Amino acid sequence: MMDWIESTRRLLEAQRDMGIREFWVRSDAWDPWKVLRREVEGCRKCQLWRSRRRVVFGAGDTEAGIMFVGEAPGEEEDLRGEPFVGAAGELLTRMIRAIRMERREVYIANVLKCRPPGNRDPLPEEIEACKPYLFRQIELVKPKVICALGRIAGGTLLGTSLPLSRLRGKVHFALGTKVVVTFHPAALLRNPGWKRQAWEDMKLLRREYDGLELRR
Ligand code: URA
Repeated sequence: MMDWIESTRRLLEAQRDMGIREFWVRSDAWDPWKVLRREVEGCRKCQLWRSRRRVVFGAGDTEAGIMFVGEAPGEEEDLRGEPFVGAAGELLTRMIRAIRMERREVYIANVLKCRPPGNRDPLPEEIEACKPYLFRQIELVKPKVICALGRIAGGTLLGTSLPLSRLRGKVHFALGTKVVVTFHPAALLRNPGWKRQAWEDMKLLRREYDGLELRR
């Protein structure tokens, strides 16, 4: 119910800002996912809209129990408008399969919805501008557990600048949801020696999803 009211409010405010005073709406115009997607696709809150080819909104099961959060689209994602479709995406697919799930069963989104030129790190002001979209996606999916991929995703969700080494290997709580932080798949491709620790994180993620207590 609250999703519907919030979406309606956003839609009406957007229309008011455009000077529209009278309108007819299709019944699916109130769908909170459609409202959010429209807002993100028209976003110009930071400079990245100038260089993006496609907005990468997010993909997967909008009622998933597990949500993966990456950093920002790369070149391939920017071309196709889908998250994690490049080399790092192939590894992410394998990580998801390793916990006995398929990509279509989880929801995948990024902190930034537009590609930073040359795949540079997101700037703090870009994260600030874009993170409300991610938080709204989390509010709508209501996952049981979020898996943050890398320091930027972990830090954004947990509101910290601690290094990844201090964030991974444990269960956090943020935005009403459990959060497990692990390495970004692109970092794992560069450092295959970290895969054993990543596997421990994935097992922790699966245990939390299954609702099991960590046995000591
Ligand atoms: N890296 C990310 O963080 N996200 C993507 O969608 C692709 C690569």
